[in-house]
Amino acid sequence: MKIAVDGPAGAGKSTIARLIAERLGLRYLDTGAMYRAITLEALRRGVDTNDEAALMRVATSVDLNISFQGSSGNLVYLDEEDVTELIRQPNVTAHVSAVSSHKKVREFIVALQEQIGKQGSIVMDGRDIGTVVMPDADWKFFLEATVEERARRRKIELEAQGVPVDLSELQEQIRQRDHRDSTRDNSPLRKAKDAILVDTTSLSISEVVHRLLSLIKEDSSDVQVFRCRH
Ligand code: DC
Repeated sequence: MKIAVDGPAGAGKSTIARLIAERLGLRYLDTGAMYRAITLEALRRGVDTNDEAALMRVATSVDLNISFQGSSGNLVYLDEEDVTELIRQPNVTAHVSAVSSHKKVREFIVALQEQIGKQGSIVMDGRDIGTVVMPDADWKFFLEATVEERARRRKIELEAQGVPVDLSELQEQIRQRDHRDSTRDNSPLRKAKDAILVDTTSLSISEVVHRLLSLIKEDSSDVQVFRCRH
């Protein structure tokens, strides 16, 4: 079974996709982590994030590995260094949209994601999973929430990590990232025509997980009926 979970930053995609994978016993891939890892390496090497050729040299010269850790999600490695935490730094977040907007960078990362998708059942979350990476997914969900709610969630997350933040600044950053992600030329953030839209603004994580799982299970229960009559 292949499940695509797309949507803008802060709509709850990663948490929800990881929980669904766990409940269904499937692999999980956070595709944004791959763009973040390349961004981290580019920043470390002092590469201009507008320079596509230089970004490609970074992408093709570094060994990027992602391991699947069940309920803990993905661990991300760059040349064997665990960068799972580092790729969430504000500096990486500020530059990742620019890096992920380059056509060649996307082609390179999408090819890796397609390969992982072909290896078996999986839940992937991102921006273009239902439209580009797994257009043949069995289930496509597009999660949305208002900018205000997404900023509120992000504030709680950052404050839990000891990072003080200003709510209106966060809202502005989210608006800018939404704009960049949905207006870029190469596979912009867009709901696939056959994706199910879920507005998570007033729903808890467990309510969203429950809603998605009931849709999936409702459908697959039809298939699992054993007919034992003569
Ligand atoms: O989901 P995230 O915030 O970790 O994603 C980081 C960035 O990567 C985001 O600004 C858009 C980009 N991205 C993308 O273009 N395509 C994906 N499938 C996943 C993420």
